[in-house]
Amino acid sequence: MAQTDSIETILKEKRTFAPPETFSKQAHLNNLEEYEILWEQSQKDPVSFWEKAADEIHWFKRWDKPFVWNEPHAQWFVGAKTNAAYNCLDRHLKNGRGNKLALIWEGEDGQIVQWTYQELHQRVCRLANGLESKLQLKAGDTAAIYMPLVPEAVVVMLACARIGVVHSVIFAGFSSPSVRDRVLDAECKAVFTSDIGYRRGQVLELKKTIDEAVAGLSCVKHTVVLQRRSKTKMVGRDVDYDDLCENQPSSHAAKELDAEHPLYFLYTSGTTGKPKGIVHTTGGYLVGVTKTAKLIFDLKDKDVFWCTADIGWVTGHSYVVYGILSNGMTSVIYEGALNYPHPGRIWEIIDRHQVSIIYTAPTAIRSFMRSGDEHPQKYKLDSLRLLGTVGEPINPEAWMWYYNLVGKGRCPIVDTWWQTETGSILISPLPGVTALKPGSATRPFFGIVAEVVNEKGQACAPNEGGYLVIKHPWPAMLRTIHRDPDRFKQQYWSRFKGMYFTGDGAHMDENGYFWIKGRIDDVINVSGHRLGTMEIESALVSHPSVAEAAVVGRPDTLKGQGIVAFVIPRETAGTDGIEELGNVLKSHVVKEIGSLARPDEILFTKALPKTRSGKIMRRLLKDIAAGKEVSGDTTTLENPGLLDIIKPN
Ligand code: WT7
Repeated sequence: MAQTDSIETILKEKRTFAPPETFSKQAHLNNLEEYEILWEQSQKDPVSFWEKAADEIHWFKRWDKPFVWNEPHAQWFVGAKTNAAYNCLDRHLKNGRGNKLALIWEGEDGQIVQWTYQELHQRVCRLANGLESKLQLKAGDTAAIYMPLVPEAVVVMLACARIGVVHSVIFAGFSSPSVRDRVLDAECKAVFTSDIGYRRGQVLELKKTIDEAVAGLSCVKHTVVLQRRSKTKMVGRDVDYDDLCENQPSSHAAKELDAEHPLYFLYTSGTTGKPKGIVHTTGGYLVGVTKTAKLIFDLKDKDVFWCTADIGWVTGHSYVVYGILSNGMTSVIYEGALNYPHPGRIWEIIDRHQVSIIYTAPTAIRSFMRSGDEHPQKYKLDSLRLLGTVGEPINPEAWMWYYNLVGKGRCPIVDTWWQTETGSILISPLPGVTALKPGSATRPFFGIVAEVVNEKGQACAPNEGGYLVIKHPWPAMLRTIHRDPDRFKQQYWSRFKGMYFTGDGAHMDENGYFWIKGRIDDVINVSGHRLGTMEIESALVSHPSVAEAAVVGRPDTLKGQGIVAFVIPRETAGTDGIEELGNVLKSHVVKEIGSLARPDEILFTKALPKTRSGKIMRRLLKDIAAGKEVSGDTTTLENPGLLDIIKPN
């Protein structure tokens, strides 16, 4: 199990923090007794809770049935019609929020763009009209979005949603082979990109990556290019983004879509080499993200909300775009690195835009901590009223630092547990009522029936470690894996009968608080992002100098987990220049997957520890990677000589 050290610290964590009175007073939920009653009811009857929550959004037609369950296939709000873009835009124009800021964008160079709901609506309508009339895109088609975090990327997502085109956002850090696999798997008709992006003062040539990625793919009919640097003449399948929107009407009738119409695919790593196209729907997803955002972030009309995630991840989908705009909030987006060009950049942006709620990852918090207390201390940060974290367990030290130095002891922290597959937050404090314990995501949200179970699927005793499962479907959950329903069933619904298997280890304490320990499968969590070890292994063995490779995670104080690769080089590779080969292989992984998968260390070996049936004993590799004594049972080891690491000369 990952991060055993942090589990030990967490087990000793006994501090609790009641909601500050000033916060509670103004919160949507602030009465503990009422909360407990509502929570108990929602546990017994999740469907009624969610059916009521569905009133938060607009439906063109109401449902015939709130929920149909045909394990493992759930349907929510069956027969109903809605539209995600309509809910994120038109509804607010009708409610007098047209002049409210929807997006505040800041570029790494300090450039600022602000769009009201009305402006965003007009841009989305123009693009939607262009997509329908010029590119003949229609409901059910699929499109990839490979764009930097610019406001136009949000326009593209919403324009697709408006006409029923299923979008697949691909993080703009992925390299062309990874993009190609995803575009092909989803059979994308259109790909949206931008000539360039900016990161740490450097220019990323995104259009070049896309050209390589889609070369020869016949499914792709158009590549739409947002030209930021300079206008060049578009050739072949390329279409200029501005040309596409030019002269298009600034109004558009949003398509009335089935609640179960897919809104997007999002590819995420699994235990095999092939990423999974997680399928999310329109109605249930929107209900899930709207309700959770409102209560967990205690959203009020005057809030300025900043989730620092990129739209390439689920956090960006649910709490930069859909859940935040559907609540009519102002959403801040920033294209650059949070500590560039100076370590206090994040705090500077908070002060400049008067951000009231910040939502970021533990890995980022640890890096801010490391660069020194003086940076947040230079800023006022008095606009903040609530802090959030997501992506991995937060160590109590980082939690305390966030609480004291950023929140000045005045802001509750919501530690939110969820996954790409869950669509919306499932376990989190409710900031006006929940007493916080540093390192715990606290309790399940209303209507979420979570439990920790043992190997047999029986509930664990308090403080006993086991597997985190969800025992009742919820509206924002994934519906399937695109083109792979068997894998969907196998991965999530086969381990324990009738329960959604999360793949996380956890324990529940005597107060019913959940403590998530991390992944129990061969998936590692690097800087809050899941990476499949198999995916990295496949990239390594695709290099001609590699005979065999095994990748494991090891605890990393900054990134949560780091990547260590054990590699058996081919005979021909020789041992001279083994150090150099290490660097070559690191670059190779970057070229194949993207820089997020770059191994921290490559250890060359002549053999890998295997069982008699030929399975690599990863448990042993993890110990070695972490620099620990190899512990536990080694009797099943086929080659007790273990690892014979080739030392660089
Ligand atoms: C995995 C999901 C959900 C958006 C970001 C990552 C880990 C996530 C927490 C948390 C402990 C967490 C889990 C989970 N995780 N949030 N608050 N505490 N662990 O999405 O890439 O789908 O990864 O991230 O291990 O299974 P993802």
